[in-house]
Amino acid sequence: MVTFIADIKPELAGQEVVLRGWVSNLRFSGPIAFLNLRDGSGYMQVVAEKAKLSDKIWTDLEALNLESSLEITAKVSIHPKKADECELQLSDLKVVHINKAEYPISNKEHGVDFLLDNRHLWLRSKRQWAIQRVRNTIINATYEFFKANRFIKIDAPILTPNSCEDTTELFELEYFDLGKAYLSQSGQLYIEAAMFAHNRVFDFGPVFRAEKSKTRRHLIEFWMMDAEMAFVEHDENMDWQEKLIKFVVKSVLENNSADLLVLERDVKPLENVVNKDFARIHYSEAVKQLQKLGSDIKDGEDFGADDETMLTNSYDVPIFVDRYPAAIKSFYMPEDPNMPGYVLGNDLLAPEGYGEVIGGSQRIADYDLLKAKIEAHNYNMKDWQWYLDLRQYGSVPHSGFGYGLERLVSWICHLDHVRETIPFPRLLNRINP
Ligand code: 4AD
Ligand code: MG
Repeated sequence: MVTFIADIKPELAGQEVVLRGWVSNLRFSGPIAFLNLRDGSGYMQVVAEKAKLSDKIWTDLEALNLESSLEITAKVSIHPKKADECELQLSDLKVVHINKAEYPISNKEHGVDFLLDNRHLWLRSKRQWAIQRVRNTIINATYEFFKANRFIKIDAPILTPNSCEDTTELFELEYFDLGKAYLSQSGQLYIEAAMFAHNRVFDFGPVFRAEKSKTRRHLIEFWMMDAEMAFVEHDENMDWQEKLIKFVVKSVLENNSADLLVLERDVKPLENVVNKDFARIHYSEAVKQLQKLGSDIKDGEDFGADDETMLTNSYDVPIFVDRYPAAIKSFYMPEDPNMPGYVLGNDLLAPEGYGEVIGGSQRIADYDLLKAKIEAHNYNMKDWQWYLDLRQYGSVPHSGFGYGLERLVSWICHLDHVRETIPFPRLLNRINP
């Protein structure tokens, strides 16, 4: 029976199994060989004893190299030193493919540029494997959370006639006879329309930002999840963000403990996220705290990455910073009637220095107010009429938010850079492979 490493449990001791996979490591100690096999679901040590195998099998074994592919038949046994782990005793071996050239990524240290050039192979390395598994859990948990809370998944378009966020970061292309089109920066505007049909909606897809930033937090192409809810105002919007992030982190702790171990991720800070209330502070208060911490930020200015790092390092939970100055936030955010000039919008900053993982806000629901904002931005009204229309028919207070998947993965895995969180990163200076 062909099985997966992940399904091999101590209860199977004594039974024979068939596995298909790749050589992760192979070492000979006289008449015994230790093969570390990986099959996508996990890693396992396979012990081969020359005395118990045919000459053909032993010769085949000797011919294997790193990342060769093979099928083995082996007997499950309990690991001699760890009673809750298994290893395998080889009985048969079928070689599927032996590499003619040496596999370029060895177990020694490589520079990050070399690894990124070999991203198509680097994905097989254990840390990279663990990261993608955590990413997968975050995606699944997100869908699960929304399904349990009556949200409908809406697929927003990627080619759009106008911008959602900052117009300086748009990827432009020619769209037949219709002029310019742009790659989407966020599905928000479109799921706002769908919200009027379904009440609670979300999207999840690739978005594009032609940002000339070369930081550990920026990708050119990344995956965003936007959620939008009818009849929800600013404070409740933050409640939803907190519930979602708690759910996602809890799911990673439950499903990926082995991966977090591979990544040497301290789980204590993640447990805090699940068990403690998130902090909530107004922008103006955050500025004061930052100034006390030594930042030279001035009231009215946006936070730099260093400011976010400084602020989040002084808390052990994620922080909602809300009511930013209107001038530094998007046109669709309404001002707080009690704090003119400041908007009912928030960022969620992840702890341990990671910073912004979510941007969200209430949306302007009033037709005339929104029209005035669009005009003030000198946007072409023709492209925006559909969005304004939403405020003409059954307008409701509503709010939403968007998370950057790679920022979440980077924080939850405690990585130095978002480039390792996405299978094929698109960076300012890199589009290959
Ligand atoms: O804060 P942003 O720009 O918000 C929006 O686009 C809203 N329309 C979302 C909404 O309300 N539905 O982007 C949302 C998140 C950020 O908080 C960040 O996590 C991530 O997207 N993000 C990036 N991630 C990687 N690389 C970049 N260049 C990113 N820019 C934003
Ligand atoms: Mg933002």
